[in-house]
Amino acid sequence: MKKILITGGAGFIGSHVVRLFVNKYPDSQIFNLDKLTYAGNLENLKDVEHKPNYKFVKGDITDATFINNLFNQEKFDSVIHLAAESHVDRSISNPLEFVQTNVIGTVNLLNAAKEIWKDNLANHLFYHVSTDEVYGTLGEEGLFTEETSYDPHSPYSASKAASDHFVRAYFDTYKLPVVISNCSNNYGPNHFPEKLIPLCIHNIKNNKPLPIYGKGENVRDWLFVEDHASAIDVIFHNAKLGSTYNIGGHNEWTNIDVIRLLCKIMDKKLGRAEGKNEKLITFVKDRAGHDLRYAIDSTKLQNELGWKPSLQFEEGLEKTVDWYLANEEWLSHVTSGNYQTYYDKQYVQR
Ligand code: NAD
Ligand code: DAU
Repeated sequence: MKKILITGGAGFIGSHVVRLFVNKYPDSQIFNLDKLTYAGNLENLKDVEHKPNYKFVKGDITDATFINNLFNQEKFDSVIHLAAESHVDRSISNPLEFVQTNVIGTVNLLNAAKEIWKDNLANHLFYHVSTDEVYGTLGEEGLFTEETSYDPHSPYSASKAASDHFVRAYFDTYKLPVVISNCSNNYGPNHFPEKLIPLCIHNIKNNKPLPIYGKGENVRDWLFVEDHASAIDVIFHNAKLGSTYNIGGHNEWTNIDVIRLLCKIMDKKLGRAEGKNEKLITFVKDRAGHDLRYAIDSTKLQNELGWKPSLQFEEGLEKTVDWYLANEEWLSHVTSGNYQTYYDKQYVQR
């Protein structure tokens, strides 16, 4: 049985990747290594936790001794690395935590993989899951390609850029078999309600203000999370070693248009009068260093590996709203405890 380690598997994207791999590859042993920070939630994986090819390991990627022992014990064949601190606003208040998890955590994993694979690098892969934010911001025109220079602006994107550089350095220096993908904004079920779309779904449900940074003119390229997971599957199995793939939805929206569409969908779903939810839109102080526009050119992935997104945005957004409305318990668990403290600090006291 091949042993595949997925880090950050209890988080938003990681849980969709774990589910896909556990169900699709019953002859592989899927290990989910996660520290269970505020963003990690084993409820995301209830439907696969009983499967014989799934194993959860609670642990911290910043703890090198723990990571080395785990790799020595389990001798993983491959790694898909998603564990990270992922929220830009939190990186602005606490940059060092992002350096620790995203940079040092990644280097710990690279070192452990290098050590156990050193006698035979064949048939192994270290797959690093990264973001389009490493490329910085676009003006009104153009798309990020795999050749776009790195130009990160937030502590989050700077830490992800640093981790990407380390992954490439281990390929060049030690011939560690690696691949990197840089994806645009994901949305879908299990998204923690600190990010724009799930935060607004939660607030619309509760008739609370929808905080839009600045004028809402910033543009993001949205991809349904299951399409990201399917791209990761395709890249994991077919990528050329040492290469990079951009993943995106060819689906650019200004923030204000996304939220207007969401309001409309939720007017219908909640049986509210048309236009009622839009009245909740509130423009608030802009995010510091706010990137204007992200847009991905995923031609390489489409042409070389034949991947393409499966869902239109309107369809995916409706599916997402349905999931949140059907999973009130999930939402109430993740918004209890520290969530309110974070929310007040981020939105009420600033
Ligand atoms: P998330 O915040 O929902 O989940 C991160 C997971 O990592 C959580 O389960 C958390 O418990 C775990 N984790 C954090 N620190 C850890 C540590 N020290 N040790 C072990 N586990 C730890 O993040 P996400 O949105 O699912 O993103 C996953 C990955 O994909 C990240 O690397 C992120 O940079 C990247 N990415 C995200 C998006 C997006 O739109 N969300 C887009 C492109 C790339
Ligand atoms: O592009 C990929 C990245 O997408 C990932 O690497 C990150 O992990 C992920 O969090 C996401 O980053 P963004 O900063 O783009 O996502 P977020 O949902 O935080 O914000 C989306 C846009 O909405 C952004 O322009 C900021 C704006 N926004 C966000 C929040 C939370 C608001 O206007 N109001 C809000 O309350």
